[in-house]
Formats: sequence, structure tokens, C-alpha cells
Amino acid sequence: MLMTIDWMAQAVPQTAGLHPYIPGKPIETLLREKGLDRAIKLASNENPYGPSPKAMAAMQQAVSEVHRYPDGDATVLKDALADSHSIATDQILIGNGSNEVLELLIRTFAGSGDEVIYSERGFIVYALAAQAAGAIGVAVPESDGLSHDLDAMAAAVTERTKVVCIANPNNPTGTLLHNTSIQAFLDELPRDVVVIIDEAYYEFVADQLGNSVRDLSYPGLVISRTFSKAYGLAGCRVGYAVADSAIVKLANRFREPFNINLLAQAAAVAALDDGVWVMDRVAETVSERQKLEAELSNMGMFGGHSFGNFVLLRHSNSREILQQLENHGIIPRPLAPYGMPDFLRISVGLPEENIEFLSVLQGIVRELKN
Ligand SMILES: Cc1ncc(COP(=O)(O)O)c(C=O)c1O
Repeated sequence: MLMTIDWMAQAVPQTAGLHPYIPGKPIETLLREKGLDRAIKLASNENPYGPSPKAMAAMQQAVSEVHRYPDGDATVLKDALADSHSIATDQILIGNGSNEVLELLIRTFAGSGDEVIYSERGFIVYALAAQAAGAIGVAVPESDGLSHDLDAMAAAVTERTKVVCIANPNNPTGTLLHNTSIQAFLDELPRDVVVIIDEAYYEFVADQLGNSVRDLSYPGLVISRTFSKAYGLAGCRVGYAVADSAIVKLANRFREPFNINLLAQAAAVAALDDGVWVMDRVAETVSERQKLEAELSNMGMFGGHSFGNFVLLRHSNSREILQQLENHGIIPRPLAPYGMPDFLRISVGLPEENIEFLSVLQGIVRELKN
């Protein structure tokens, strides 16, 4: 007879409080669930226009090399990034998505008994990574339910605080902090805390935020960016952080040897070289976002202005709206896991996808009123 073993008792203690990240529903899953033959995914803030043509060509060319291990140091990519930021290559930490960069940094600096501070409705990975590291997650409520309360976050810092995480713009609330406020916050802190400014959506606010890598200054400052959003390479998994070289060196001790695969390295290098294409798509996304927000506002469902490539829908019956949208083959992201049960997050899609979403939504709202 098979013995039943209590594997939880064998696992590291923090496992008990860990809840796996719930990603946006994949298109294939919805098609299978609903018996549909097409669906529109507006759930994961991806770039609906696809990867840049240069990135696609670079991947096609690199395919014949995949029997080789990739460059474990991602030298060409780091050189290109260092060049674009006017910094040294040893100030760059490369990750399998910026998600890995966040995890590496939290694991490097926070362990049992240490505190990691983040905003209550900040990006959920900070809480998960802190928990996984065995550290204490400190969630600071937002001032108005949506924006980071930097004064309260500074006040929450104690001798045990090792890492502070701020997403700017924030996902899922879409709010933006200006760098003058962030610098004032950094000036309040003890000098030896690691502060991660997570700029996954930077390209969508570059004109308003300025050059954070150049403008912000603090010894423990880490600025993370990703190729998953504006650059259209979510499936490749490439992100990076810029920090003091001593911080990068320590985090690299936890990094697995070949964390960025060969195709992803080729794609990211080429995408960096396709800046005009990327920024054209960003401009289209921002213009589409304005239209979506205006329509949600007309329908009385506007959940607050977003600076990312997504909008917020607010409705007391958001659960029913979610179900109905899925029945019509549209996948939004429910924000109940963020303590925002009235909200759905809708990624900005292609113009025709946004039109279809709005038309389906109007039909659902009409039904709800009857
Ligand atoms: C604020 C923020 N940071 C980081 C990430 C992680 O992205 P990736 O691991 O694809 O770089 C996301 C993804 O949605 C995000 O919204």
C-alpha cells in the first residue's frame, strides 16, 4: 500500500502561505471551455501588434543555433542595453522576464525576519516573491485606493526593511508617480535599503516620466524594465534591471547559468534596434487607450485613468460582466485577487478588437439593465 506522506510538513515553512500567481486566461483555455473558435485576449497587457519585424527576423535566423547553449552572460544584449542607457554593463542584471529580476533581487536581500515593503495594490509578484523568500511582506494601503502612498511607505520602513518595491506606472491600478515624488521619497530613506522601481510600462510614459535611470539617485536604487510589454516579446521572457554593480553582482549569484534563452537574446537585441517601430505601436496604444477610457466613462464604468497599456472597468456586477465577456470570446482580467472585486482590467487591444470589446460590453450592459 502506498504511504501517505505529509509533504507540506517536509516543505520549507513559507510554502504554507504561498499562492501561485494566477495569470490571464490563455486563449486556448477559453476556446476549450466555451467551445468557441476564436477569442480576443485582453488579460495580460501584451503588445497586440506582435513582435517587431526585426525581432522576428533575428529569431528566425537564430533558430539554427539552438543546439548550442546561449551566452550565459547575455553579453551582446547587455552591451546594447548599457549603450542605450549610457551605463556600464556590470550595472545590468538580466532576467527571464523582469519577474525573475524582481525575484532574484528579493531573494538576494530579504530572508527570514526581513521585511519587503510594497503597496497593497502594487504588482502581486512582490508579495509572492517576499513570501517565497521567507521574508515578511508589508503591504501599505494606497492613499485613495489606487495610488501609492509614498509617505506611508516611508513611514513603514524599519530596521528590518531590506527591499521596497514600487511599480511605476502601477499594475493593476494604472497610476503614475512623478520622479520628483520618487526622489523625495528616496531622500527620506536610510541609505542601505534596496528600492526597486519597476518600470515594466515605462515606454507608455517615457515622455512624462523622463529618464529615470539618469534622473533618480539613491545607493540602493534598482530600475527594472521588460521586453514583455511595449517591445512585444512577452513569450520570449526577457527583462532587466539597472543598479549599482555591487548589487548586480550579488543577485547574479542566485541567477541560473543560462536564464535567457538563445532566441530571446537574439530577439531582444533586435527589438532594441527597432525603437521607431516600438514607439509607433506605443503611440497607437495610447490613442486606443484614450478612446476606451472615454467610452467606459460614457457608460459610467470608468475605473480611473491608467498610464499603462490597459484600462480599468468598474461595475458593481463585474463578475457577471466577466462571465458574459468570456461567453463572447473576450478575456479580461478580474482584479478580485488585488482586493478590487468591482474592477476588471482590460488590456488595450488592436483597434478592431477594442471596437468589438466595446460593442459586446454595450450589449451586456443593456441585458443587465433589463
Ligand atoms: C508591474 C509589472 N512588473 C513586472 C511584470 C513582469 O513582466 P515580465 O516578467 O513579463 O517582464 C509585470 C507583468 O505584467 C508587471 O505588470
